[in-house]
Amino acid sequence: MQAINPLAAELNQQIRDTSPEVYALLSDLGKQIYLPKGILSQSAEANEKASRYNATRAVALAKNEIMHLNVSHQFVPELTPETVYSYPPILGNRELRTAWQNHIRTQNPLLTEATLSLPIVTCGMTHGFSLLADLFANVNDTLILPDKIWGNYKLIFQTKAGANLHTYPFFSSDRCFNIRGFSDALSKHTGNKLLMLLNFPHNPTGYAISHAEAQQIRNAIVKCAETGCRTLVLIDDAYAGFYYDDAVMQESLFGMLVDCHQNIIAVKIDGATKEEYAWGLRVGFLTFGLAEKVMKGIEGKVSGLIRANTSGASQISQTLVLQAMNATEYTEQKQRNYEILKARALKVKQVATHKKYENLWEVYPNHAGYFACLSLRSGNAEEVRQTLLEEHGIGTIALSENEIRIAYSCLQESDIEDVFNKIAQVIRTIQLS
Ligand SMILES: Cc1ncc(COP(=O)(O)O)c(C=O)c1O
Repeated sequence: MQAINPLAAELNQQIRDTSPEVYALLSDLGKQIYLPKGILSQSAEANEKASRYNATRAVALAKNEIMHLNVSHQFVPELTPETVYSYPPILGNRELRTAWQNHIRTQNPLLTEATLSLPIVTCGMTHGFSLLADLFANVNDTLILPDKIWGNYKLIFQTKAGANLHTYPFFSSDRCFNIRGFSDALSKHTGNKLLMLLNFPHNPTGYAISHAEAQQIRNAIVKCAETGCRTLVLIDDAYAGFYYDDAVMQESLFGMLVDCHQNIIAVKIDGATKEEYAWGLRVGFLTFGLAEKVMKGIEGKVSGLIRANTSGASQISQTLVLQAMNATEYTEQKQRNYEILKARALKVKQVATHKKYENLWEVYPNHAGYFACLSLRSGNAEEVRQTLLEEHGIGTIALSENEIRIAYSCLQESDIEDVFNKIAQVIRTIQLS
């Protein structure tokens, strides 16, 4: 292994001094990484002192404004060229970071007073997960997650980082979150470092947890932490806010984990992707339940990692997200979209759980998010998917041998009945053939 750079050693020392628990979780790469001082620090110094000529930034200026092409700027005339074309800070635009922190405190009453880092801006949530894998996951580290997941976790943590994925069945036999399976997976772990990932509202099922379930999850994690195991809990909040059932908890589990035990380090991964209806802008956030003094070292490490891959999220995307959040019609427009999605979710529940389909499938409980998931009582999900696509022009996702995911977020409310009718028709035809 390479010798540790003195700047990395300094960050390591800072993290070790402020939180030995976080230090114990760092991967080998996490310990090696640092942000070189070179150009960035010299530019920062010049920004303060170079009152005559500042020839440090790797951009082009004309009349003290960032150079740009009008053929491009004409499409966003209300945005200043600086907020479109200049480089943003590595960890993201500070105003946006502050706005997002306020946003998550407002949306999550449990976080009102909690210890929270300033969110770090990432190029979409995938990039956030990738950074966390770099920072914390060594080859053969254990990551506990359910058997039903967003597939990208596997690519990031297993294929890329080499972690061992330990899964437990997502549902219990009575179709609730499988708290026993989750607790057993934690208690079986014998090492003193553990990563785990939880995602509610859940992809692919649309399940969201109740307050009681959240409490049980928290208790299981605390029990594990009490054995001395340093635990990193990744909370994927991609679908934060999309709750359509009053019986479920209307905020993130993250709020229950922050400040709950010194061996538990919780990170919230969320983004503009779904919450702000901005999938392609590629703006995500990483928020740590850690105090500023620990974050100094962590931010140094994450800055190094970002510098070495994307070098920062797109400036115009960050500007668009911030401008939207500051706009007067923001809340109203978001509410309007939410109502549309809620109406579709309720329609799906009413249609898909109708008695006439009882012998064809079971609908997994869903209260939130974008999706509904069917467990077919007979037939092969891939065959159903292909037939739906080829004979009816309906696209769905076959998740396993017998499970189909329907993204009702993409369906008009008035088309939902037809879609489930066609799925039923296809299954019946296959049964007869
Ligand atoms: C559970 C989950 N996490 C994260 C993401 C979003 O990732 P990104 O912001 O990289 O598009 C998705 C998108 O489908 C998702 O379903």
